[in-house]
Amino acid sequence: MGKEITVSVIKADVGGYVGHSSVHPELLAKAKAMLDGRPELIDYYVTHVGDDINLIMTHQLGCNAGKIHQLAWDTFVACTDVARKLKLYGAGQDLLSDAFSGNIKGMGPGVAEMQFEERKSEPIIIFMADKTEPGAWNLPLYKMFADPFNTIGLVIDPNMHDGFEFEVRDLIKNREVTFSAPEDIYDMLVLIGAPGHYCIKRVFHKKTGEIAASSSTQRLNLMAGRYVGKDDPVLIVRCQSGLPAVGEVLEPFASPHMVSGWMRGSHSGPLMPVGLKDCAPTRFDGPPRVVALGFQLADGKLHGPQDFFADTAFDLARQKANELANYIRRLGPFEPHRLHLDEMEYTTMPQVLEKLKERFKDLR
Ligand code: F6R
Ligand code: MG
Ligand code: MG
Repeated sequence: MGKEITVSVIKADVGGYVGHSSVHPELLAKAKAMLDGRPELIDYYVTHVGDDINLIMTHQLGCNAGKIHQLAWDTFVACTDVARKLKLYGAGQDLLSDAFSGNIKGMGPGVAEMQFEERKSEPIIIFMADKTEPGAWNLPLYKMFADPFNTIGLVIDPNMHDGFEFEVRDLIKNREVTFSAPEDIYDMLVLIGAPGHYCIKRVFHKKTGEIAASSSTQRLNLMAGRYVGKDDPVLIVRCQSGLPAVGEVLEPFASPHMVSGWMRGSHSGPLMPVGLKDCAPTRFDGPPRVVALGFQLADGKLHGPQDFFADTAFDLARQKANELANYIRRLGPFEPHRLHLDEMEYTTMPQVLEKLKERFKDLR
């Protein structure tokens, strides 16, 4: 074992309480019991955002470690048993397979991981969202690591001035491309401005090559070939000392952006930054939410969390999100509130077209 630390954040919705809004305390207790005292872990923190359980784990086994993925899988299976017993809603919904096959990727749960040598001081932030998709991180990641109007460090910190590299995934064609900011930003924005198709997977410090951010990018419905719930992504960001400061990393969320995934995974709405106590979606199963938990790592131990968005400095963002939500809700079944046909998780279009086929008249 090297001295490098790996942070693995693995999440799944294995049963909602009530409906798709939250996680029952018995599931969280089961998840903690499953991770407690495990020799493969240095430390762990279990939480939930909306109806998703998030396992935040530190260890020294590297990314994609079979033992860690197995542990997360077993934990979600054990939680599913509890969810079935309590008849919770959609019990086991994110576990796409009956048997674990060595790597949890592609099996339903979302995974964000990064491995690094711990710095003299290692502040990290774990972002966790509900009722949205992985591309929801594109805009905030761009602002954190490429926009000088958000991150003044890009302009005045000599250790950041060279910029960052962005690894972008094409979720449809399953391929990736790396962009260098600031040189490539116009090309990059063509892609990442389409967050349902292209997602920022990782960000690296250009000069040192150090990993700075890592997100979960799976799209459940593309994997399962049917609607199985939104992906509700997670994101790990390292902060300070040549990386964006904690405040620069949080700043993009002060202006709620529109994301896909509200009600039935088929609507667009503002991403509302909230503290843990407000993380359960309500109105129209939303609006989509994001929580930011800060930790100081010390030899892999997670000191925290600091529940950043619980702060009053994000009150106006919440108010703005509620105003935007109120406005866009009035569009009801019309785009752009309702997503474009290709992006909807639910549709009755084939049945309706079939029913209408005799009534359609060709125009010549
Ligand atoms: C779930 C979600 C919810 C559900 C909705 C309908 O992530 O976004 O809005 O899509 O509650 O759920 P079902 O079809 O399970 O009744
Ligand atoms: Mg759910
Ligand atoms: Mg969810």
